[in-house]
Amino acid sequence: MVRLNLATALLAVTGAAYATRGKAPNVLPGAYIVEYEDGHDGNALLKSIQDDTSKRMDLDFQLFKGASIQFKDLKNAAERAEQVASMPAVKNLWPVHVYSIPEHTVHSVGSPSAAEYRKRADAANDTFTPHLMTQVNKLRAEGIDGKGIKIAVVDTGTDYNHPALGGCFGPGCLVSFGTDLVGDKYNGFNIPVPDPDPVDNCNGHGSHVAGIIAAQTNNPYGIIGAATGVTLGSFKVFGCDGQVGNDVLIAAFNMAYEAGADLITASIGGASGWSEDNWAVAVQRIVEAGVPCTVSAGNSGDEGIFFASTAANGKRVTAIASVDNTLSPAILTEASYTISGSANNVSFGFTPGTPDAWAGVSLPLYSVSLDATDPANACTPLPDDTPDLSNKIVLIRRGSCTFAVKLANAAAKGAKYVIFYNNVGGVIAVTGTVDAIKAVAMVTADQGATWINALKAGQEVVVHMVDSDSAEKILQNFPNTLTPGYLSSYTSWGPTNEVDFYPDLAAPGGMILSTYPLALGGYAVLSGTSMACPITAAVYALIMQKRGIKDPQTIESLLAATANPNIWSDGAGHTLPSLAPAAQQGAGLIQAYDAAYATTILSRSGISFNDTDNFAPTQKFDIKNIGKSDVTFTLSNVGALTAYTFADDTSIEVQAFPNTFAQGVSASLAFPDGSSVTVPAGQTKSVTVVATQPQGLDAKRLPVYSGYIALNGTDGSSLSLPYMGVVGSMHSLTVLDAEDTYISQSTDEDYAPVASNKTFLLPPQGHVNDTQYANVSLPVIVLNLAMGSPFVRVDVVPVKTCRKVNTTEILGTQTIGPIMGAPYEWMPRGQAPSSWDGMLADGSYAPSGTYKFAVKALHIFGKKGDVKEYDVMETEPFGIRYMKNGLKRRAVTMRV
Ligand SMILES: *[C@@H]1O[C@H](CO)[C@@H](O)[C@H](O)[C@H]1NC(C)=O
Ligand SMILES: *[C@@H]1O[C@H](CO)[C@@H](O)[C@H](O)[C@H]1NC(C)=O
Ligand SMILES: *[C@@H]1O[C@H](CO)[C@@H](O)[C@H](O)[C@H]1NC(C)=O
Ligand SMILES: *[C@@H]1O[C@H](CO)[C@@H](O)[C@H](O)[C@H]1NC(C)=O
Ligand SMILES: *[C@@H]1O[C@H](CO)[C@@H](O)[C@H](O)[C@H]1NC(C)=O
Ligand SMILES: *[C@@H]1O[C@H](CO)[C@@H](O)[C@H](O)[C@H]1NC(C)=O
Ligand SMILES: *[C@@H]1O[C@H](CO)[C@@H](O)[C@H](O)[C@H]1NC(C)=O
Ligand SMILES: *[C@@H]1O[C@H](CO)[C@@H](O)[C@H](O)[C@H]1NC(C)=O
Repeated sequence: MVRLNLATALLAVTGAAYATRGKAPNVLPGAYIVEYEDGHDGNALLKSIQDDTSKRMDLDFQLFKGASIQFKDLKNAAERAEQVASMPAVKNLWPVHVYSIPEHTVHSVGSPSAAEYRKRADAANDTFTPHLMTQVNKLRAEGIDGKGIKIAVVDTGTDYNHPALGGCFGPGCLVSFGTDLVGDKYNGFNIPVPDPDPVDNCNGHGSHVAGIIAAQTNNPYGIIGAATGVTLGSFKVFGCDGQVGNDVLIAAFNMAYEAGADLITASIGGASGWSEDNWAVAVQRIVEAGVPCTVSAGNSGDEGIFFASTAANGKRVTAIASVDNTLSPAILTEASYTISGSANNVSFGFTPGTPDAWAGVSLPLYSVSLDATDPANACTPLPDDTPDLSNKIVLIRRGSCTFAVKLANAAAKGAKYVIFYNNVGGVIAVTGTVDAIKAVAMVTADQGATWINALKAGQEVVVHMVDSDSAEKILQNFPNTLTPGYLSSYTSWGPTNEVDFYPDLAAPGGMILSTYPLALGGYAVLSGTSMACPITAAVYALIMQKRGIKDPQTIESLLAATANPNIWSDGAGHTLPSLAPAAQQGAGLIQAYDAAYATTILSRSGISFNDTDNFAPTQKFDIKNIGKSDVTFTLSNVGALTAYTFADDTSIEVQAFPNTFAQGVSASLAFPDGSSVTVPAGQTKSVTVVATQPQGLDAKRLPVYSGYIALNGTDGSSLSLPYMGVVGSMHSLTVLDAEDTYISQSTDEDYAPVASNKTFLLPPQGHVNDTQYANVSLPVIVLNLAMGSPFVRVDVVPVKTCRKVNTTEILGTQTIGPIMGAPYEWMPRGQAPSSWDGMLADGSYAPSGTYKFAVKALHIFGKKGDVKEYDVMETEPFGIRYMKNGLKRRAVTMRV
């Protein structure tokens, strides 16, 4: 059966018109992935359509046979795609989507020309905190380093020239295999230009990821990869900037698989929530073929619950959440100061701000206050007796008012150079916006206090600043007092829209020091699930080596069973004495040593009891005892916080992070075969668990409960199996925010609604992409999905047309057809605007006239053929007319 999977994302006819609040995937106009029907000749198919298509990429793999194609004529692309989809040789046809590296934070980077990095950690003794947090140091102390395991990294490439990343590429090198699928100029929308060299010298993300896995100890910062013995494959799928198409991602995963990778990791993703997404399906096939795939869970924690990302949300794909490091490392620029009466220069570190014209600035320090705890330095005009500050470096404490206010008050007394000292741990980069200020910087709270003490004692402090581009760098580690080991507030939440367990595991990802391309400084501190994913991949390699196994489910189950769930933190210093929901942390923080040595293997790594409609209370799992003695396990239930999806029982909009909770209310679990189970040595016992949903909760607020089945063994082991479930009905949720779905115009970046009956003067049919029409205002349908929807229609309904049109009835609506690109499948929640140039999905144009859009969004678990299964709305009417071909710009301006 041939299936046409039309756009999950929306087509922006003018290119610029696409933006989303929910960060939905973008779509590449006219580009499609074709999967061939088994036993059919792809070349013959491609030949038969070569007149109007060009081949983007061959996707000729063991687990995926197809190609990606580009229709030459965009205006017929959607119609031609339907025709191609119905050809016997075609099994699936999907639009090409584009994804970005999840938005991560670059905190500080080294400097390209720094002569020497100052050694601050002992590289031979693994005290690297992400390793202490995950027990990686304990395995490394036993010589377990992943030797013999091949990890493929799908990312921005790797700067293998970096000494800590091996210094070479090819057999015998640390980065021993891989390729560049796209070339540096690729941006996700142009044609990939592959070359064999996956070097990363302009982006950095992939080199940071590679260092987390396997950085060698020959670096001055004490950075150590978690699995220094592995060999890396580098599959470069990004150019220097921009995004990546999922045809490239599918190709990269399959190339890595065929290159013999033992596991594949990717810190890439896009909003989804559907395991049916095509990239997710392609990765699922690789896992099912026996190769584990770890994918970052996403950095959209602020969106709240039910915001899973693809391909992490694929079935069997291991989704990795992030916890914050216990230390906050920072790479600071080294400068010095002298105190009157002392001959010595004392070194200190600072973070340059913007502007940072510090080169050669050597001036006495003046502090606006001699109280190092004053909460509001320079928030009001400085006193009249303040000296002329033009020949000083002015010291100001952070806090109470903006940096701009403080700088303006200092500038009013002549200041040109300002150093802030922090009022909390660490340092940040400050941007100054006051014209008179030539340079700003920040130092630590301790450094500020040291200087204040000297000034109070009547000493003169002369600070010798330096140009941070050429100065030496020093590493300073600040204790993370706010969120040590807690879930990172940015980590994306599950479950999926179909209540699949998500995310799976958590690892350190917030404030991680690793390698960076030499051209970009060599070392950097970054935050994101992008950093949590590679350390997990490295731990997989350690377990593979130690246990001599490769099976994805066994390793995921070992890591889940031995992981440590943590309590809830709001990311801003407030915690609750209950476990954070499994929808945020999965099984919890991985413990590599315990997983490597566990003699008990559970058959599952997470359980979903589904929602109330589909409540599946009875679940089974196996306990396998591979140890030498019998073990009796005591089973118990440890509930985690139950998170409300909605703030109240009338809201349809998911609460942003942090959610509200039903504290102290969790599911109860029964073990009908007894809560004590003895598993003889070498044997396997099946356990049945029966859940009762938490009681007394408001189902309209869609509470998501979760917890951990604890298994305490007489051998001293303490394992847990996480579960989650939903009280309420996913099927009856409102998916379309009808009140917030409306007509706007493409020239309005904010997408404000337009007045009813506005008439749009459109470019001549087929010419929307001509540059002369780039600024013409097109109608935009601004869709707003309150929840993900598996299928969304946007049909054009004639109100009054200049010439007669034929309509057909679709789900009770008389329509001339869907807009070009519609209907859309597997939509994530969020806002998705799509501009319309009058073209319908079949490639024809709606004649001039007045129209409405009929929007229909299918409920989760809904049946496509029944209009009652949809949320429906019709927009206000709007008019369209077409310019005559060749009409001059002047006339256009007059009419729009
Ligand atoms: C490793 O370093 C830590 C912290 O510096 C120190 O306490 C410990 O003794 C060292 N261990 C070895 C084996 O050198
Ligand atoms: C201290 O450092 C500054 C800037 O590098 C330099 O000009 C000065 O000579 C040094 N003074 C001493 C005493 O080393
Ligand atoms: C929940 O139930 C629905 C309907 O049977 C099913 O499609 C979905 O896969 C189930 N989810 C899980 C995680 O089992
Ligand atoms: C299981 O072990 C954990 C950790 O050692 C302990 O906190 C918990 O109370 C134990 N549960 C039972 C039912 O013994
Ligand atoms: C919009 O146009 C339609 C059809 O011409 C008309 O029936 C309707 O009253 C108009 N609405 C407004 C608000 O002007
Ligand atoms: C559409 O316009 C963009 C830039 O304006 C151009 O790069 C692209 O090739 C055009 N596409 C077609 C099919 O004309
Ligand atoms: C469109 O508007 C931009 C910004 O005002 C301008 O730079 C550009 O020249 C305009 N293009 C055309 C084709 O008028
Ligand atoms: C409407 O449909 C009829 C019958 O199929 C056809 O003859 C006619 O050309 C169509 N009109 C338009 C405007 O498409």
